[in-house]
Amino acid sequence: MSDGGFHAGSGAPEMPPLVRTPTPPTRPVTPLEDDARVTEPLPFERPVQAATKAGRPTDGPALGPTGRPMPVIPDPKPVAEHGNARVVSMCNQKGGVGKTTTTINLGASLVEQGRRVLLVDFDPQGSLSVGLGLNPHEMDLTVYNLLMERDVTLHDVVVPSGVPGMDLLPSNIDLSAAEVQLVHEVAREQTLQRVLAPALAEYDVVLIDCQPSLGLLTVNALTASHGVIIPLECEYFALRGVALLKTTIDKVRERLNPGLEIDGVLGTMFDGRTLHSREVMERLVQAWGDTVFHTVIRRTVKFSDSTVAGEPITSYASGSAGADSYRQLAKEVLARWPDA
Ligand SMILES: Nc1ncnc2c1ncn2[C@@H]1O[C@H](COP(=O)(O)OP(=O)(O)O)[C@@H](O)[C@H]1O
Ligand SMILES: [Mg+2]
Repeated sequence: MSDGGFHAGSGAPEMPPLVRTPTPPTRPVTPLEDDARVTEPLPFERPVQAATKAGRPTDGPALGPTGRPMPVIPDPKPVAEHGNARVVSMCNQKGGVGKTTTTINLGASLVEQGRRVLLVDFDPQGSLSVGLGLNPHEMDLTVYNLLMERDVTLHDVVVPSGVPGMDLLPSNIDLSAAEVQLVHEVAREQTLQRVLAPALAEYDVVLIDCQPSLGLLTVNALTASHGVIIPLECEYFALRGVALLKTTIDKVRERLNPGLEIDGVLGTMFDGRTLHSREVMERLVQAWGDTVFHTVIRRTVKFSDSTVAGEPITSYASGSAGADSYRQLAKEVLARWPDA
């Protein structure tokens, strides 16, 4: 099966190597911690931060969790009318980095900012659909039908997400067949872009949850998008494969979608109490500079709990630190997007 030639060339940009060996956590930490033990904000645990917390003057600006001074993120302007959507892909060929969690919770947080949001489940595993409470065996029509059948329209497939103001294009395992069948289509890389076109006038933001691969489905998502958000888990091997992802994005930009931008790199599953997480953030900032969001998403069991509940953390645990992180991310992305 061809993926349209999107392979890393020898010129793939390389990330700075991880030269230090992993530093063990300063105290024993269980992988999943309850929110109760995590407090806002997310400072580096340095003396200067302690002074800031106590409200005393400090030597310099407070550092955020990425090791850079934390800017004041402005409150987004309300939208006068809906439409002219920005389409954004959540992309990383690694699984388990927080693509689906970010799609659901950034979407729900953008709704809190008055935006109309469409989520596109573009992973045959259908985790986004399941995460919003849908049963994969009880879907009439899915993104697969929209891609492959000419008489199926966007409105036939869109379902409510359970969050007022946020809709969903659901998927299930059927979508895996599309990857094979699309190879024979004319303009196979532009298929998703074509079927999503009617959504642009109705929504303010369209978020596409990509599958963990760089195959033809992901190339379709990137071709349909104005921007890409790259979630990366704050662990040592997070940067592996990012050069290949960057090469794929560059090739799509060169050949298919000249306007494609990287909207940001998002550190997920961050644990501020470990030197390890903070070092990975430091590496990310070295490699990507200000493309890295100031907002990071901490590791908390609330995310898996809310998936089981079939709703975003912003409603399942509205007052939790995890919900607040995604609200902050929504403000940060809106500040980066020109017209959203
Ligand atoms: N910040 C987080 N803290 C703890 N668990 C998380 C966090 N983000 C996601 N998870 C959990 O990790 C798993 C993988 O996340 P998911 O969003 O499905 O990743 P992906 O879509 O990249 O495969 C899920 O079980 C999810 O509930
Ligand atoms: Mg996923």
